[in-house]
Amino acid sequence: MSGEMISGAFEPGLEGIVAAETRLSSVDGEAGELIVAGFPVEDIASRASFEEIVYLLWHDALPSVEQLAEFREALAAKRSLPGATMGLLRAAASEKVSVMDALRMAAGTLSLGIPEDDAHEQALALVARFPAIVAAYWRLLRGEEPVDPAPELEHAANYLYMLSGEKPGDNSARALETYLNTVVDHGLNASTFAARVIVSTRSDLVSAITGAIGALKGPLHGGAPGPALDTVFEIGKKVRAEGYLREKLERGERLMGFGHRVYKVRDPRADVLAAAAERLYATEADRKLYELALHVEKTALKLLEEYKPGRRLQTNVEFYTALLLHGLGLPAELFAPTFAVSRVAGWLAHCFEQQESGRIIRPQSAYIGARNRRWIPPEQR
Ligand code: COA
Repeated sequence: MSGEMISGAFEPGLEGIVAAETRLSSVDGEAGELIVAGFPVEDIASRASFEEIVYLLWHDALPSVEQLAEFREALAAKRSLPGATMGLLRAAASEKVSVMDALRMAAGTLSLGIPEDDAHEQALALVARFPAIVAAYWRLLRGEEPVDPAPELEHAANYLYMLSGEKPGDNSARALETYLNTVVDHGLNASTFAARVIVSTRSDLVSAITGAIGALKGPLHGGAPGPALDTVFEIGKKVRAEGYLREKLERGERLMGFGHRVYKVRDPRADVLAAAAERLYATEADRKLYELALHVEKTALKLLEEYKPGRRLQTNVEFYTALLLHGLGLPAELFAPTFAVSRVAGWLAHCFEQQESGRIIRPQSAYIGARNRRWIPPEQR
């Protein structure tokens, strides 16, 4: 075996390293800009259907009316879970494993009944069945029977239906769809990179997606929108916001839902989700909570400027994700899995791109261990 030729400097976390070319999304943290396949996120997320966005990412063009209808139908036809997947979810529920773990285990079963070399069918099944897995598992965890998918409902509405057993109102479906569209892709984040690495070995899509779920599960990536919402609940009343947040900052704690590694101005996704939350809470959810959250955000931004001047800490996507998903009746345990329900389409789009490039991702490591050691028998050590 030959030694590795080291040509570049080691960058911990690969920060600043360009490891792929993509036409899927562009993240500009200084300008506060996110472009999804050519469209500013604020232009498209609250208007397109999720199916349109998935089609756009996979084909680099918006579908015609006929193409969209066909794509919708193809996805809807794949929603039902194989018996083995359902059996596994029942077993997982009896052990009360987390929803993300159940999703990872169940995703691995989705090769069943689909030829490994039929990438298109695999991709459709993965996108179509993620909501079905999460919804079925959530119901099983609570001792309820899963609800069969409703083929006449669109992807987002059907997810809400499979969770609650009730057909959602238009505003709720639209709000969820806006969320799914907003977070569907975001440059070369850790889980997307994991998926690209796996597929670059010419492994299959189900393997790549299962690995990506593993990467997303970690708290440094999947985030914790739950804690952002907990802060709002703990504050409870507008008058308590400043004192509560000030105490946290005095203790050196971080305010959840603020700050971002890439965005140094406001995360454009926060704006899209804030607008969607405003519409949702105007009609279908608790208006008071929404107003309290707005007040908490305003106070937090003021105090972050006071305590952390120049750090450019802004509201991140988690803050409004939490508010929006809570308004839709989703518990915090479903926040990260619902993120995966969207992001799976982005992961797959990256896998397709990676397959086109055809090159295995194989970076180098800089050896920092010992040299010139000599083996001696155990009794002489
Ligand atoms: N509240 C208070 N201070 C914060 C902060 C926050 N949310 N985020 C960053 N800071 C401070 C840090 O303490 C640090 O202060 P210092 O310069 O006095 O040491 C400075 O801002 C820079 O922070 P740093 O850790 O270098 O930023 P990062 O780019 O590594 O971190 C996050 C990005 C998202 C991890 C970070 O902003 C954070 O922890 N936010 C809160 C958690 C959160 O909302 N996560 C998203 C999912 S819920």
